Amino acid sequence: MRLTALTGSLLLGLLSAHSANAASIYAGQAKAAAVCSQCHGIKTPSAEAPFPPLAGRDADYLKTALKQYRDKTRKSDIMNAIAGSLSDDDISNVAMYYAKLKP
Ligand code: HEC
Repeated sequence: MRLTALTGSLLLGLLSAHSANAASIYAGQAKAAAVCSQCHGIKTPSAEAPFPPLAGRDADYLKTALKQYRDKTRKSDIMNAIAGSLSDDDISNVAMYYAKLKP
């Protein structure tokens, strides 16, 4: 137990030392795990599902796509509904998180 906690805080320390944006990546990760992964998965979409993969895609592309879904200039019943509840911060965080993943 103590070892696990120690390793965890070391890891956190290393990550935040290397990235000034650690907080928002964590927020993006939480959002992705709670919402997006149900369809898109984290690294690969669920098998046989017609969902585009997001991991390793360009952050600006993802941000633009989400904003277009949110303001409905890009139509998708599913994504219009989901993006409609995302704030600008949510969009930046989740785009940054997926962009940093290796597909
Ligand atoms: C209920 C299933 C579902 C969930 C949950 C979901 N999506 Fe999607 N997403 C889709 C579908 C279906 C499409 C394809 C829509 C289309 O044809 O434009 C899509 C498309 C996208 C695209 C466009 C990809 C491309 O190649 O242009 C992005 C970006 C995206 N989703 C991000 C997200 C993010 C971020 C979340 C979490 C906040 C999320 N999605 C949650 C179903 C989902």
